[in-house]
Amino acid sequence: MRPTVLITGASTGLGLAIAKRLLETERYHLVLTARESSLERFAEAGLAPSEHVWLRPLDVTIPSEREEVIDEIEREGTGLDVLINNAGVSYRAVVEDVTEPHRLAQMDINFRSPMELARLALPGMRSRRRGRIINISSVGGMMAMPTMAVYSASKFALEGACEALWYEVRPWNIHVSLVEPGFINSDGFERVRWTELAHLALDRPSHPYHRHYHDMTDFIARVMHNARPTPESVARTVQRTIERRRPPLRVPGTPDAYLFDLMRRFLPRRLYHELLYRSLPHIRTWGPQAQPVMRMAPRAMR
Ligand SMILES: NC(=O)c1ccc[n+]([C@@H]2O[C@H](COP(=O)([O-])OP(=O)(O)OC[C@H]3O[C@@H](n4cnc5c(N)ncnc54)[C@H](OP(=O)(O)O)[C@@H]3O)[C@@H](O)[C@H]2O)c1
Repeated sequence: MRPTVLITGASTGLGLAIAKRLLETERYHLVLTARESSLERFAEAGLAPSEHVWLRPLDVTIPSEREEVIDEIEREGTGLDVLINNAGVSYRAVVEDVTEPHRLAQMDINFRSPMELARLALPGMRSRRRGRIINISSVGGMMAMPTMAVYSASKFALEGACEALWYEVRPWNIHVSLVEPGFINSDGFERVRWTELAHLALDRPSHPYHRHYHDMTDFIARVMHNARPTPESVARTVQRTIERRRPPLRVPGTPDAYLFDLMRRFLPRRLYHELLYRSLPHIRTWGPQAQPVMRMAPRAMR
């Protein structure tokens, strides 16, 4: 009997790479989900529905869609064995530029919805006395960077809740893991969401936070472009995590995640934060020393 794996946000990026990787093994029954408007991407990626590949609409923030997909798996299949909470978005804004609607949207997609899916999946997993819940977290879930406060808040929340869940459900042989990728060589930064205030600040060279946005955006785009890890390499880590008999709670997804984890654990806190502060791009020119810079134009601004 093939274990059933549900993947959220499976039509692009890391979710698609995980789907393809697991499909190649021919060992799993896959339930690949995406928002209704993104379902057509499966065909573009060469993924067709079959007995062992179900394609289903799932906007993770919509309660009825969450319930429908889990109900169907429990009713018509053999029950959910592995839940992969992959869908996620990232807002780019300094704390002063994040207003409540963006904060709620960020938390809704990256934290509240994965937790709700886990809540729906757990009764079936407990009754079968087995299950895996894999959450795609981030290096942003172990450390925070300027302009990424609300993204980090969502991933820190995910990490905290999953740490508690790890203890809670282990008596039923249910394993909870957080896969933490750092920088991946992908176009993910083009889909970063900007708040209106962040957008204004980037547009206006005289804005007090202009350099924060300019330098961080440039830095992140460059590092992602030059990063060696790919969605495929992280997908291999996810597969290994699913297949380990006793997967650990935290799994670094890329080499930089190992490095940051080591730094965080072994450096004295003050030194750790000081080092990171000094490593920020052009940090000496931020704030009162800010010099206007040419406006740059990331492709996805909102
Ligand atoms: N790329 C990186 O460098 C990196 C690093 C660390 C962690 N991560 C994490 O890896 C995961 C995947 O990110 P990615 O890099 O593959 O980004 P991506 O290419 O932008 O993919 C994100 C996926 O999430 C889906 N999604 C967004 N909102 C959704 C919603 N409400 N309901 C259902 N699906 C939704 C998107 O679908 P639509 O296209 O329909 O919106 C898309 O398929 C995220 O959790 C992210 O935080 C990525």
